[in-house]
Amino acid sequence: MTRITVSVDGVSYTDDVEPRTLLVHYLRETLGKTGTVIGCDTSNCGACTVHLDGTSVKSCSVLAVQADGSAVTTIEGLARDGELHPMQRAFSEHHALQCGYCTPGMIMASCALLADNPDPTEDEIRHGLEGNLCRCTGYHNIVKAVQAAAAEQSAAAAEPGAASQPTSAPAAEVAR
Ligand code: FES
Ligand code: FES
Repeated sequence: MTRITVSVDGVSYTDDVEPRTLLVHYLRETLGKTGTVIGCDTSNCGACTVHLDGTSVKSCSVLAVQADGSAVTTIEGLARDGELHPMQRAFSEHHALQCGYCTPGMIMASCALLADNPDPTEDEIRHGLEGNLCRCTGYHNIVKAVQAAAAEQSAAAAEPGAASQPTSAPAAEVAR
């Protein structure tokens, strides 16, 4: 076993894990963060996407020990004070989900996409999300949702003194 300390959604956890434990299994089975889901065993669906130190990763392709000392944000850490993250709201308002299985990973990947490129074209959105598969929507409304979130983010950034909602872990740290 290897001892790791990881900040997940703003809370610091220290646990002993087997070196072979995947980050997605650590999140779901040890921490109970079942909002992050598993959709394949080939690392190609993207349903398990989380942010690792602000970068979008497929948590089924990262070992938990690789996250030692890092900050992880899952879909469960996006909302603030009972308010959905703008990307979550955009997915809801633009009907960007049907069964919803791909949605946690799709939203996390979309947030990372806008962090890298705040004003993406439709092609850039489709290209940026090509690591995330959706079997239901045909992607059209997902693209519309990301465009809407990008527009809202730009409008918020243009307001004097306004700060856009962060996509990484919040500052508060609580030891378990
Ligand atoms: Fe499919 Fe991770 S579960 S890419
Ligand atoms: Fe069903 Fe995307 S909404 S897989």
